[in-house]
Amino acid sequence: MTQDSHPKAAVIGGGVIGGGWAARFALNGWDVDVYDPDPDAQRKLDEVFNNARGALPAVLDVPLPPEGQLRLVESVEAAVTGADWVQESVPERLEIKHSVFVEIAKFTSKTCVVGSSTSGYKPTDLQKGSPKPEQLIVAHPFNPVYLLPLVEVVAGVATDPETVERACTLLTSVGMKPLRVRKEIDAHIADRFLEAVWREALWLVKDGVATTEEIDDAIRYGFGLRWAQMGLFETYRVAGGEAGMAHFIAQFGPCLQWPWTKLMDVPELTDELVQTIADQSDAQSGAHSIRELERIRDTNLVGILRALRTTDYGAGRDLNAWEQTLSGDKT
Ligand SMILES: NC(=O)c1ccc[n+]([C@@H]2O[C@H](COP(=O)([O-])OP(=O)(O)OC[C@H]3O[C@@H](n4cnc5c(N)ncnc54)[C@H](O)[C@@H]3O)[C@@H](O)[C@H]2O)c1
Repeated sequence: MTQDSHPKAAVIGGGVIGGGWAARFALNGWDVDVYDPDPDAQRKLDEVFNNARGALPAVLDVPLPPEGQLRLVESVEAAVTGADWVQESVPERLEIKHSVFVEIAKFTSKTCVVGSSTSGYKPTDLQKGSPKPEQLIVAHPFNPVYLLPLVEVVAGVATDPETVERACTLLTSVGMKPLRVRKEIDAHIADRFLEAVWREALWLVKDGVATTEEIDDAIRYGFGLRWAQMGLFETYRVAGGEAGMAHFIAQFGPCLQWPWTKLMDVPELTDELVQTIADQSDAQSGAHSIRELERIRDTNLVGILRALRTTDYGAGRDLNAWEQTLSGDKT
């Protein structure tokens, strides 16, 4: 807690993901101290925060609490001292993460939750060498963190179960949807899917079957829209018609034996393939800056999330519940 008794978050690494976490906490009234040695960190944080200010409040019909204070500070010590939550968001390199956890442990109590944004590492691997492994969990978010609710919460062998409980309660209170991952695996749950889709997409470009734009169209005009509101299994249940899921599997199960998919083979990322993808992507999206694309993305996500709120379905149900808590807090 800070002196004026706002809860305090510390974010170590203020890039794409750390900046999103900082904005999520600050927009929920938390004070946030960020440590990032990049001389350009302040500009990047400001830009992400500006986008977040335009996006998260737009999914709600009640105001968020007054903004907390967001500061860039000079050291891990300054950032994490007095924090209720520390979110590690440094680059995906184990040795950097290990050294950061040792530093965080020096200045935090055992009851401070330390979440790692890691996309790939298992929490037990992150805990190796940490003086306070019981405070450490994986809290894997999705970009933009200030807008997308999902956080995969994974405990390691040394994590205190109480830390996991506290983490889920705090994440829910800032409008997120903690998904407890039952078993530690590399890349948790969601990135395993994304990797499978990414692998297939690389093959389709490499084999000249589709351009980057055609692949994106294949997703966003069809199954991508279905996935956003029902996921995979519920969508397939509906696809099975009245006979349901068992019928669906009986009908399409044999296709899995057909040579539709390259399965685990990965195309070699030769300079030529990388250049082909980069050129196609420039032709597809180069007219917009990254910040413009982010704003287009955020506006679209706000629209989808608001539509889901009207049916009280999927992520919309959790947003409605969060809004009720927010309005309850004010009365
Ligand atoms: N980009 C994504 O879509 C995404 C999604 C979910 C999770 N993640 C995970 O989030 C983490 C961060 O990824 P990112 O995409 O934000 O990377 P990024 O490169 O945008 O940001 C990393 C930041 O960490 C800073 N940094 C480097 N060393 C540091 C240190 N010792 N102390 C403090 N800061 C340091 C860098 O200056 C940089 O600003 C990774 O573990 C990644 O796997 C990324």
